[in-house]
Amino acid sequence: MTETQVKKILRIDSSARHSDSVTRQLGDEVIQRLMQANPDAEVVVRKLYETIDFLDERWVQANLTDPAERDPSQHEALTASDLLVRELESADVILLTVPVYNFSVPAILKAWIDMICRARLTFEYTEKGSQGLLKDRPVYLVMASGGIPFGSAVDFASGYLHHIFGFIGISDLRPVYAEQTNVDASASKTAALAMLGKWLPEDTTPAVA
Ligand SMILES: Cc1cc2nc3c(=O)[nH]c(=O)nc-3n(C[C@H](O)[C@H](O)[C@H](O)COP(=O)(O)O)c2cc1C
Repeated sequence: MTETQVKKILRIDSSARHSDSVTRQLGDEVIQRLMQANPDAEVVVRKLYETIDFLDERWVQANLTDPAERDPSQHEALTASDLLVRELESADVILLTVPVYNFSVPAILKAWIDMICRARLTFEYTEKGSQGLLKDRPVYLVMASGGIPFGSAVDFASGYLHHIFGFIGISDLRPVYAEQTNVDASASKTAALAMLGKWLPEDTTPAVA
């Protein structure tokens, strides 16, 4: 797919901060460049802090029940999760912005992951092991850390996210990392923009996916 065909961009931010958020600012830059290349694209913003619940017993029981046998209350228990899965399925491009919190991803993002990893919908188990059911598509993975280098032994965030997206069938992850912002914020942002430039050069004709 070329990015000129992008109709829907799903943006998911997970920083608790709004002002001064490095990941949100980099995310804005990604959107700006995507919109330059795809002026008619729609941006759907999933506001995790306003909308995501944790799994509960009703959810788990309903999810374990064969869809044909679910009663109305079980369908209701999965409504929000179904919506999040549909939102993901229908996006041509995904932007995920993620600060490192306590060496991993923010809990709110983990809550979203728990909602979208759905047997029969986004993955299935086969004789050969698990199989992702979503079609591949670009995911701009914007991440920031205060102190840890990405890819180091104490980074339990970036490898986890690569694994989860691969698990549901999406492997085209495009890292944009601002690491160790507490060491040198400016150098870290410059490096992140250089990574972004590889996927979406500034001020340019549509990039080829
Ligand atoms: C609750 C919390 C936990 C954090 N834990 C870590 C951590 O374990 N390792 C790290 O390198 N940075 C950590 N940081 C720093 C953030 O990853 C860094 O400030 C990042 O820029 C935050 O993203 P934001 O600017 O988009 O809010 C933490 C920040 C917060 C607020």
